[in-house]
Amino acid sequence: MNKTIIVSNRLPLQVSIQENSLEIVPSVGGLATGMKSVHSEGNGIWIGWSGIPENDLSPDLSKKVQTKIRNEKCVSVPLTSQDIEEYYEGFSNRALWPLFHYFMEYTEFEQNEWDAYKRVNENFAKVVLENLEDGDTVWVHDYQLLLLPQLIKDQKPNTTIGFFLHIPFPSYEIFRTFPWREEILKGMLGSDLLGFHTYDYERHFLSSIKRILRLEVQFNEINYHDRTIKVDSFPMGIDYDKFYNAALEHQKSSIEKSDLRKRLEEHMSEDKKLILSIDRMDYTKGIPNRIKAFEYFLDNYPEYKEHVRLVMLAVPSRSNVPQYQKLKRETDELVGRINGKFATVSWTPIWYFYRSLPFDDLIDLYISSDVALITPIRDGMNLVAKEYVATRTNGDGVLILSEMAGASKEMNEALLINPNSYKDFAATLKRALTMPQDEQKTRIKFLQKRLKRYDVEKWATEFFKALEGTKKLRQGKV
Ligand code: UDP
Ligand code: G6P
Repeated sequence: MNKTIIVSNRLPLQVSIQENSLEIVPSVGGLATGMKSVHSEGNGIWIGWSGIPENDLSPDLSKKVQTKIRNEKCVSVPLTSQDIEEYYEGFSNRALWPLFHYFMEYTEFEQNEWDAYKRVNENFAKVVLENLEDGDTVWVHDYQLLLLPQLIKDQKPNTTIGFFLHIPFPSYEIFRTFPWREEILKGMLGSDLLGFHTYDYERHFLSSIKRILRLEVQFNEINYHDRTIKVDSFPMGIDYDKFYNAALEHQKSSIEKSDLRKRLEEHMSEDKKLILSIDRMDYTKGIPNRIKAFEYFLDNYPEYKEHVRLVMLAVPSRSNVPQYQKLKRETDELVGRINGKFATVSWTPIWYFYRSLPFDDLIDLYISSDVALITPIRDGMNLVAKEYVATRTNGDGVLILSEMAGASKEMNEALLINPNSYKDFAATLKRALTMPQDEQKTRIKFLQKRLKRYDVEKWATEFFKALEGTKKLRQGKV
């Protein structure tokens, strides 16, 4: 039976060594949480990195890691500490990530890191080819593996290859500054179908294809080396039922409440509101901006002092990359300063957690919050915004969402803001806190209907349908 091979830098599970034994935890981030549901239901395998440097493992432990991973229908690609430093922390997260999110001032182009990026993409190709059988479909994910589609196509031209980018594709004016722009585009063109979250990212990509590679593009088709490559937008959804049902379950009176839930509920009353923010600790998420805007809000609407609390979960991410360390320091300082400025004996304005939380705690946070404040400076999609809406089983709650998140394109009933305008920010927060229940329910109902219909399963099905279409196109040509 033919299978699907999912390939991404990070596997959905992460391995670490704890006092000589192996610990496995779920990965964080939209790619892993979203694709997990697709993978667990399909008959395929997932190829990626286990999260641990290969040179930290004895041959015996390495074998144990492989077995643990195999049991989860995964195959690991070994990365050495040097690979991690140059390919992952370096090229992927100091060049591609900031550039694609329009943070040009953070972007560093280093030749040795580009060499490592090519080398590691080749290692991934090797593992894919070892596991690939005729008739299999390969689905490659995200910016860490932009060269992989062509590396596979070169060896196995008949394999159907899909690629999905989970982050924005920047405008041509940004992308053109990239020193290895031709190679990256050609690497992506090894795919038969290229998917993006939004039409804008798709348009930016096609514009770069036309202007940099001077290829012929007709509507959303590229002619390249006698092949027709399809490009389309597929906004990623969430496992809606999983979040909705978990929220229902947590609200049952028979369920024993977690300590977190009890603490949150102490703050819940008619005149006290919880405002939630959840992100990986990443400079694209606009965390310092959000804290400063919250300060502006408390300064300008002082009647809300003691009546609102910002619960801010920042999940540690890429903490060896200097920009992320700087962000962590800045966030710690800001939270300290603002709590110091406003706190009273009975009230702290910001509750700040720097850690990842298990699924059940996340659900408790979602269901206990009156407002979700999701205000990235730039974000490919943002699944947290969708998860918050899915858990509002009573139909209330308000989502404030940045226009710069891909999710804003499908979530018009949220309160959309430009996160750079504190004034707009504060006025919208005030509007959210005073929004009548009827209006909240109308907005949430529309959003939920759309999220339920276009859930992650539907997203994957649509992608596969389009990918199947490219197979037929190729067969017709032979
Ligand atoms: N998440 C998680 N553990 C946490 C906090 C968040 O697994 O402690 C998940 C969250 O449920 C969501 C994902 O991480 O599915 C974040 O995805 P999003 O698209 O919002 O942002 P990304 O991290 O991919 O940039
Ligand atoms: C985003 C990226 C993913 C990445 C995730 C977590 O969602 O699109 O490719 O896996 O962040 O980042 P990390 O660097 O820890 O894998």
